[in-house]
Amino acid sequence: MDEIVNYLNSVRREYAGQELTKDSVAENPFKQLFSWINDAVNAQVLDPAAMILSTVGSDNKPSARTVLIRGQEENGIIFYTNYDSKKGQDLVSNPYVAITFFWVELDRQILITGRAEKISYEASQKYFSNRPKESQISAIASNQSGIVKNRKSLEDAYAAIEEKYKGVGPLPCPENWGGFLVVIDSFEFWQGRPSRLHDRIRYTKENNDWKLDRLAP
Ligand SMILES: Cc1cc2nc3c(=O)[nH]c(=O)nc-3n(C[C@H](O)[C@H](O)[C@H](O)COP(=O)(O)O)c2cc1C
Repeated sequence: MDEIVNYLNSVRREYAGQELTKDSVAENPFKQLFSWINDAVNAQVLDPAAMILSTVGSDNKPSARTVLIRGQEENGIIFYTNYDSKKGQDLVSNPYVAITFFWVELDRQILITGRAEKISYEASQKYFSNRPKESQISAIASNQSGIVKNRKSLEDAYAAIEEKYKGVGPLPCPENWGGFLVVIDSFEFWQGRPSRLHDRIRYTKENNDWKLDRLAP
């Protein structure tokens, strides 16, 4: 363990991003979010759509996992999942979430908080029908977050669905699969800067306006 810590200390590095100020960011945080996602795409971040979604269960314990941002509305962002999964169940008892993007290539982090709500079945179906058939089969075959006896049982479930829908497409979107819209109430844009004096600009929703603050690093 000491060796790992020594190694991690030896690769400690300076952060050298450009200054981020209340004046340099967009007035609308969604604009700022999409401008940074665009920068991440241009910097060839491998999966710029990936974000860590944190939820809190009915037992008051937090958990986190990666999901993909797959849509946007005027007031929030959308990801898709199995509604019966651990995260789906968490969101029934507590809809509040925290989301983290971290792009090491840009020394940037974005933190988001909000409230998740299911989108309509029709909207989920529309998205589902545009996914590759293999992904549709997996979504139907996988009881996400459930315990699986072994890999083979998973492959058998996939093969059974594949057989059932041979020559058919697109497949019906399962009732327990769909999108969550995260209605956002705060954003924080973090830019790594020299000497650990990083820039943090936070947007907080107040009535219908966004209040901007600079936070200490
Ligand atoms: C890069 C990446 C992208 C992922 N995207 C999704 C996604 O969009 N939706 C999803 O349900 N799971 C996605 N996953 C899998 C989740 O991280 C997680 O394993 C799964 O949703 C089960 O989480 P839960 O048991 O906490 O509900 C992704 C994983 C990775 C590493």
